[in-house]
Amino acid sequence: KPVILTCAQPTGQLTLGNYLGAVKNWTTMLDDYECYFGVVNMHAITVKYSPAELRKNTLSCVAQYIACGLDPTRSNIFVQSHVIGHTELAWLLSCITPIGDLQRMTQFKEKAAKLGFNVGEGNDLKFTHDGARAGASVNSGLLMYPVLMAADILLYNADAVPVGNDQRQHLELCRDLAQRFNHNYSDTFTIPEAFIPKQGARIMSLQNPERKMSKSDDNQNATLYLLDEPTTLKKKIMSAVTDSGSEIVSSEDKPGVSNLLQIYSAMSGRAIADIEDSLRGEGYGRLKQEVADAVISVLEPVQTKYKELITDKAYLESVLKSGAEVAQRRAYKVLAKAYRKAGFVERP
Ligand code: TYM
Repeated sequence: KPVILTCAQPTGQLTLGNYLGAVKNWTTMLDDYECYFGVVNMHAITVKYSPAELRKNTLSCVAQYIACGLDPTRSNIFVQSHVIGHTELAWLLSCITPIGDLQRMTQFKEKAAKLGFNVGEGNDLKFTHDGARAGASVNSGLLMYPVLMAADILLYNADAVPVGNDQRQHLELCRDLAQRFNHNYSDTFTIPEAFIPKQGARIMSLQNPERKMSKSDDNQNATLYLLDEPTTLKKKIMSAVTDSGSEIVSSEDKPGVSNLLQIYSAMSGRAIADIEDSLRGEGYGRLKQEVADAVISVLEPVQTKYKELITDKAYLESVLKSGAEVAQRRAYKVLAKAYRKAGFVERP
């Protein structure tokens, strides 16, 4: 079977964007692929975080994966820091990665900007006025982030990586690095394909539909979490920003309504055109009401399952134990090969 590998960061809870752009699609791949689903706790420390929260969120993320339908008997769920090889391979890859390639990554620029930096001409980092005043700094882990991500993927010789649209650029870098490594040292890594779903690959913020829905949004009304109470989900959806006019149609000049239609369609399996037809002449309030119903009816069983799982720590740990074992076996082989190619002598 071809191999897929994909991961999510355990920063806070999973969002509806994570679900529709990623986890939901992963559940459809269990039978046709050998699946590796990582919880990338090492990526999660590139931004300010609390160790206690990270610990809690890591296990919670595993329970959310399983509650969404990632069956651990048909896939390998593992925590990144449990498998030796991710950072080792990241080091090899970093030595063939130009710094400039990392500085021009959109996500890096966005995160650096939040810290008070500006990536200027030639991609050099400059303090903004506020950043300089605050004595801001960008840690090198944030810059190295995509290299570690490339290592996550190449360490398993993954054939494909199912992700949302925001990871497209990181995937391109990963493919470049694999090609460069193969070119420099001879054929070693599979060049992975990005699997980006046709629908749901970019779910937008409810409060600013020009921006993607994100865990780290300052406005918590902007983001739907899988574990939000039904009343909270409903409240957030009912207060979503819509557009001028009153017609319920998906179009470029109606980003708010388009986003709601996209969510509705992805949650219900109904085509957008069909939804538009059925709501002709209705107002935005009715649309939101139906979106809320669709979201809640899909998430309720997920939440019930989650509540069961999260109290069963022994079960979650057994899943992680076997996940790490299978992952480690594969990772060792690929790492050993990469070391050999790079000219590292074998341990006697
Ligand atoms: P993360 O944790 O931000 O997101 C996990 C997955 O959810 C997708 N996603 C979205 N899809 C649609 N709409 C949105 N608003 C939305 N927000 C997030 C992401 O595209 C992703 O598929 N760098 C990765 C984690 C990672 C990884 C890897 C992924 C580390 N190593 C190796 C794949 C392979 C990240 O931060 O995802």
